[in-house]
Amino acid sequence: MVKKFQLPMLSRWWTPLPPPSPNGKNILETGREDPLFEDRFKGLRAKFEQKSEMLNFRVVGVTSSIAGEGKTLSCAFLAGCLALTGRKRVLLVDTDIRKGDLTRGLGLPRQPGLTEYLMGTVTLQEIVRDSHIPTLKVIPAGAEVQFPADLLSGEPFRAFLKEIRARFDIVLLDTPPILPVADTINMRDQLDAFVFLFRASYTPVEMFRQAVDEIGEKKILGVIINAVEPQSKKYIDKYYGYYQQRKPTEEESVA
Ligand SMILES: Nc1ncnc2c1ncn2[C@@H]1O[C@H](COP(=O)(O)OP(=O)(O)OP(=O)(O)O)[C@@H](O)[C@H]1O
Ligand SMILES: [Mg+2]
Repeated sequence: MVKKFQLPMLSRWWTPLPPPSPNGKNILETGREDPLFEDRFKGLRAKFEQKSEMLNFRVVGVTSSIAGEGKTLSCAFLAGCLALTGRKRVLLVDTDIRKGDLTRGLGLPRQPGLTEYLMGTVTLQEIVRDSHIPTLKVIPAGAEVQFPADLLSGEPFRAFLKEIRARFDIVLLDTPPILPVADTINMRDQLDAFVFLFRASYTPVEMFRQAVDEIGEKKILGVIINAVEPQSKKYIDKYYGYYQQRKPTEEESVA
């Protein structure tokens, strides 16, 4: 499918993850008990680092065509993996102001965050939060605003990106989906590139195509395919046999 679109593949998980823990555990704890999951992200990190260094990309949005494709989870994990090497100063920004899932998922208070900074009521220092990884910082979404798409396309946002470009080696932005709202398209020109999520057996290919067209193929660093079905039983038996013993949870059977 990605080949048909001539888009580079960054990663492919066929592993449905266990659902996030209901007791509000940090999003970065998801999949901890699954060694393959972490392994996928290490592979993704290698490809991401190679490409972003080669193309000199520093500010990258993680996006998808519709809601629920795994953007927030992937964005947080990729940032965590990149920061863990200690080689790079990594910043995660929650630009999904409508939902603030990344902020919530990392257990951070929403305010003050991006929206307050863009409205000029706080300084950058006040919104950059520490994480449990010394080289990973996070900017929460901030209070909800009536027109996030406008806030994300104005001059203050442009100035914000310029400021953080100078302070971090990699900036990953968790973005809203492209088709339902204008926020991500409005940010498009300010970002160096996008990582695109595609959730198999969930996202209609037509919608993926439409969203890719809106962003433009040249701006897409690569695609992560989430929850891909195994290609062949033989392959699974050989390498990942123990997965078949796991009973799918309710959440998994949605994928
Ligand atoms: N492979 C997977 N297996 C099982 N659950 C998954 C998988 N990928 C994501 N999820 C779960 O699906 C839900 C949606 O994931 P996530 O929030 O990362 O998607 P999103 O694209 O950011 O959604 P939104 O567009 O609503 O912001 C979360 O509860 C997440 O834990
Ligand atoms: Mg999200």
